[in-house]
Amino acid sequence: MLPSTMTSIFTASLGLFSLTLIYICYHAANDVRLTVSPQGCRMSWMSPSYLLQHEFNSSWTPLAHRYSLWLYREVGWDPNQVMGVPVLFIPGNAGSSHQVRSIASSATRQYFSSPFVISSDFTGRGIQSLDFFAVEFNEDLSAFHGPTIESQIEYSAAAVRYILSHYPPNTRIIVMGHSMGGVVGTALLPSDDISALITMSTPHTLPPARFDARVDEIYQRNAGTLVNDSTPVVSICGGATDMMIPSESCILPDPGPEHDIYRRTVFTSALEGAWTGVGHREMVWCHQVRWRVARAALELGEAHSDIDIGGIMDTWLSRDGRLFPPVAGIDIPEVATYEALPEGMNLVMRKPTGSRTYLLPIPRALETNATFVLLVSRGSISPIAPQHSTKLQTAPFFCVGRATSPTTQQSTESVSCVPLEPSTLKLLPSPIPGKPFPVPDEGSDESEGVVLFEATVPRIPSGVDEAWIGVHVDAAGEDGSVFGGFDETRTFQSDIGVFDIVAGGAKLSLQPTERSLVRRHITFPKLLSNALVVYTLTPESVRPTTSCAHSLSLLPPLLVHKSHLAETHYHRLEHKTSATLHTHASAPYIPLSRFSPSYSSELWIYAVSTGCEDINEFTLTIDWWATIGRIATRYPTTLISWAVGVVALLMFHAWRESGKGSMPNVSQSLIAFICHLLPKLLAASFVVALLPLSPDYYLGTRGEPYLAFLAPVLLVVATGLVCVSWWLILLLMWPLRFLTRLLPPKSRRYDELSMPRSTVVSLIFICLLVFVVVPWQIAFMGCWLIHLHTCASSAHRKPYPGSVPSLRSTPIESLPLRERLDGREDDTKGTGPKEIKSSEEPDIQDACRVRNLATVTDTLNATQTYHENTHLLLLITWLLPLSMPVLAVWVRTLMTAGYTAPFNGDHNVFKVAPFLVLVEFASRRKRALSLHQNGGSYLHWGYLIVACVSFLLGSREAYRVFDVASIYIGCALVVIFSPVRFARRIAT
Ligand SMILES: *[C@@H]1O[C@H](CO)[C@@H](O)[C@H](O)[C@H]1NC(C)=O
Repeated sequence: MLPSTMTSIFTASLGLFSLTLIYICYHAANDVRLTVSPQGCRMSWMSPSYLLQHEFNSSWTPLAHRYSLWLYREVGWDPNQVMGVPVLFIPGNAGSSHQVRSIASSATRQYFSSPFVISSDFTGRGIQSLDFFAVEFNEDLSAFHGPTIESQIEYSAAAVRYILSHYPPNTRIIVMGHSMGGVVGTALLPSDDISALITMSTPHTLPPARFDARVDEIYQRNAGTLVNDSTPVVSICGGATDMMIPSESCILPDPGPEHDIYRRTVFTSALEGAWTGVGHREMVWCHQVRWRVARAALELGEAHSDIDIGGIMDTWLSRDGRLFPPVAGIDIPEVATYEALPEGMNLVMRKPTGSRTYLLPIPRALETNATFVLLVSRGSISPIAPQHSTKLQTAPFFCVGRATSPTTQQSTESVSCVPLEPSTLKLLPSPIPGKPFPVPDEGSDESEGVVLFEATVPRIPSGVDEAWIGVHVDAAGEDGSVFGGFDETRTFQSDIGVFDIVAGGAKLSLQPTERSLVRRHITFPKLLSNALVVYTLTPESVRPTTSCAHSLSLLPPLLVHKSHLAETHYHRLEHKTSATLHTHASAPYIPLSRFSPSYSSELWIYAVSTGCEDINEFTLTIDWWATIGRIATRYPTTLISWAVGVVALLMFHAWRESGKGSMPNVSQSLIAFICHLLPKLLAASFVVALLPLSPDYYLGTRGEPYLAFLAPVLLVVATGLVCVSWWLILLLMWPLRFLTRLLPPKSRRYDELSMPRSTVVSLIFICLLVFVVVPWQIAFMGCWLIHLHTCASSAHRKPYPGSVPSLRSTPIESLPLRERLDGREDDTKGTGPKEIKSSEEPDIQDACRVRNLATVTDTLNATQTYHENTHLLLLITWLLPLSMPVLAVWVRTLMTAGYTAPFNGDHNVFKVAPFLVLVEFASRRKRALSLHQNGGSYLHWGYLIVACVSFLLGSREAYRVFDVASIYIGCALVVIFSPVRFARRIAT
């Protein structure tokens, strides 16, 4: 046995290590949203008013007393009566109905160009305005509590019925949900009344708080709906900026292939025109996002049948970030004049004027995978354009015919053209060189963006001499530019893996090409692609020349990082400006999906190089700070349940020791655990992390070898936290001890196993109270308080509980003797128990001299009891965080909905009854529970079961830890109180 000061130093340093690590993680996590995917959002403005729907009263739903329904109206723009397509907005956890205002206002101000004048974008298309209704849930904490979500579902379903009763028959409603509101919205499906569901920052596949089994039930129901139902669902995700939910849970689960067209996940970093990470609350007001969500809702409202909507989802809700159809109807006038360019020359124009078609001869010697690339900045490639484009319009064609000599104008007869089918047609951001991208608090401007058009060059039909790609340009000399040319797709495959990066050898050199390519493609098939790992890519140009600064490039070099169908990130590509590469494709506790490879990412580089700067080299490193931050936000639940696991192992150890003779105190258990068990457990935890378990278990990493190191780290931190919690408990008991000393000692009967009638009555009363009024979590909190008091009051009979260094200085022998002299001689049973340690053998002998044998036995027993009680206190303390969230919900609900609000479903007496009995028993008995004695030697194995459940299941289903602990305690009590054992005890 180590000397006691050594042990204290040992636990203290472990505890401090854990606290330091948690402090570091907290800061790293806070920085993630600033560094990994910064936000560039403009504030949105509106003139809101809200009309309470009085008629939606208790004759529609009993919940009308608790919640309310509001109709949003833009002051001066919307008439007071409803007239268009209804939309129901459902706020999330602690959200408000007023959050509807940004999107609702935007929808009105897009639909009407000025009050009551419909915008030209919508006239003649049969699109109606939107009527936004919003439910008010009094900022309920729905994320933590299944029954609260159920109430919200019930109320929302009634609201949908009520709203539709004001519209012509067969009208369908669009449901929009923010955060947990999206979960409520999904639970309304399948429904014939709902035409589409748009969710924002909604955790679809993983509950953010996993302390309630009933939340998981709702999630399971929703998972089935999301796979099998054909109602269109669009999920908009904020990405790494969103600190409230892990954004990988925002990705919709894979539906069957037949429903694939009805599901779209769009990350705001890919969303055309937004290109920014968006925080959780910002999602509802970020101007760049609300404009597009409102527009998508307007367009979705137009659809009348499943076929319409299926078509919409399939075409304009594209996976690369388009939320609504491009502005249609840009007519390219009849080709008037042609201009043929010499072979090998690219079409480069700045501020073009006039209307003309440029012909680029298709080289005969072109590779088979050659691509024609057209880039237009500030203008349109029909029909894609930035939101506010200039008059610059272009359209690519495939032309055959004869053009006799280059640069001469041809007449129309000799050349015939057909539109060229694009393989890619989308809007790319054009970051301003030298400025951060996206610009903080501002983001992208409406006129920003470069339209990218790519098409495979068609085969030249046989018998045709000359074939051309024609680019029609129609412009008025405004700001804007055009680039067109032939390009090869060269894919550079990099073998860089995580190991190379850690070993320091992750340089990537691209072959300099003789002709400058517009696009370069780099794949990393061996690079781990996981939400927990963040990389930094630092580009280095081989020839960084400053003399080129004046030559304004057409398209500033752009780095595109794709890791998932829905997830694309754009970065400014500049010399020594590093880009942060991260993904949400695969992540802990997220079910596997077809589209989420654990390895591989791809990069695209777009640059119309001016020839003076060429970025050819990259260094790939791990961004440790961001990686720590990402890990920190994903494992708090795991940490809590692993700490319960550590405590359960401590208990297992303590009870086994007590079977061998004496029960160790908590610090002895801790030190024994740290010195003997922990090293083995660290190795075991690492090995288990390598097993290909389902993502629901353990670390959720499916045995990913690079992430297996997390398990030992988490285990050490959890152990350190248990040490810290023990100091805190001692600190709490300190004042309590003096308080209880002031109270007169209660004369209690220390009957072993019988219970006084009054106790039985009060237990029954408490159970009844839990059954009818208060949630069981309150009773559990009470258990903790009572037990804390029990431990504190029995501690004052002891000199010191014996673990905190500061308390160590208390004299060991003198105190109990003094107490004895303080006129308490009659209470022999209460005299100072001592720590029974082998090192203190002489003290015991001393004690023997002054007391009779019975007193020593009592002393021993009291010590045992005290040690046992403090162990139990530690367990109950660590079970608190698993049950407290619901308590917070209850208090909140009482405060907002009134004291009469029904609070369903938390009256399960059986969850708390074992603790009630145990704590009551502990407060009266004199002897240790002695699970080992008299045939109960197998009982302590139950703690091992609790530990296993905590480690394996606890992180995904934390509520199971409480359940299994409660069941175990219940079973142990039944065994102890069983008549057979009882009889045997009497006999001994
Ligand atoms: C609910 O409102 C309707 C219409 O105003 C009214 O007829 C009905 O009596 C109300 N029901 C209750 C229970 O207040």
